[in-house]
Amino acid sequence: MKPVILDVDTGLDDACALLLAARHPELDLKAVTCAGGNVGLDDVVRNTLTVLDAAGRPDVPVARGAAVPLLQPVRMARHVHGEDGLGDIDWPRSTRTTDPRHAVELLRDVLREAAATGDLITLIPLAPLTNIALLLRTYPDAAAGLREIVFMGGAAGIGNATASAEFNVWTDPEAAAIVLTAAGELGVPTTMYGLDVFYDVVVTLDQARGLSGSQSAELARKLIEKRSELYQGDGASIGDGGAVCAVIDPSGLTTQPFPVRIELSGSWSRGRTIVDTRDWSADLTSDPHGLSPTTVQVATAVDGKRYAEMWLATVS
Ligand code: BDR
Ligand code: CA
Repeated sequence: MKPVILDVDTGLDDACALLLAARHPELDLKAVTCAGGNVGLDDVVRNTLTVLDAAGRPDVPVARGAAVPLLQPVRMARHVHGEDGLGDIDWPRSTRTTDPRHAVELLRDVLREAAATGDLITLIPLAPLTNIALLLRTYPDAAAGLREIVFMGGAAGIGNATASAEFNVWTDPEAAAIVLTAAGELGVPTTMYGLDVFYDVVVTLDQARGLSGSQSAELARKLIEKRSELYQGDGASIGDGGAVCAVIDPSGLTTQPFPVRIELSGSWSRGRTIVDTRDWSADLTSDPHGLSPTTVQVATAVDGKRYAEMWLATVS
């Protein structure tokens, strides 16, 4: 089994990711940490516990993390995820309590243990990267417990929150810049599962309506129905869930190594992931910015059908 930790801002599509990670037989879900993002932290935590209850995984520790971005004011996406972040669907909310530790401390402890045993962890951030930036700067030794980071965020092409920027990076660009820099310095292999592939793992309404017979299946059906309604389609992408699919079955994802920087200023481009697709074997010494110190595996294509089938089979 592959040990994983999810960092989430649950969120309809984070919920799709949690169901998959909690139930897939090849994943060992060690912990889930929460950050404010799609909705406020209290809603994120309640939604996360609720989804894990539905998945039959009340054993997974869940910790509260950063409520707001490092520098800029919080901005949410209730228009995409509903007032409560879970589409305001009729579903009983969890009454379970969280781990007493802050998210950064829970991450530190689980990663240090992984470093000690050698059973390294894949960290899957699906939210603004605030918790992960704080972790890597406060306890850099914990990175020894990381096998890799596979994060949902950014885009080589167009954004969603703005024309330039994807929501998770746009919400906390300083955190994203810190994570990429620290991952480069600490030697943590990093994959960017961005908007270039995010929309391509689609579950149709017909497929979703076949989901029944367990709490997990019922919730999964409601999530797809709600996302289809919000996007006015006859199906919906599992969004963040695709990043978990990529960890389970990396051969379904095409990636290319590119230097990546985060735009921290700019009138219209703050929060953009600047993916440098130029050929650096040619003479680019005239570029005053030089080569970005951090190279990231950028997802450029995905086998959406395969991943959607994996998700359906697992959540049901
Ligand atoms: C990302 O932002 C959030 O709305 C989703 O949960 C996803 O993580 C997509 O830009
Ligand atoms: Ca998310």
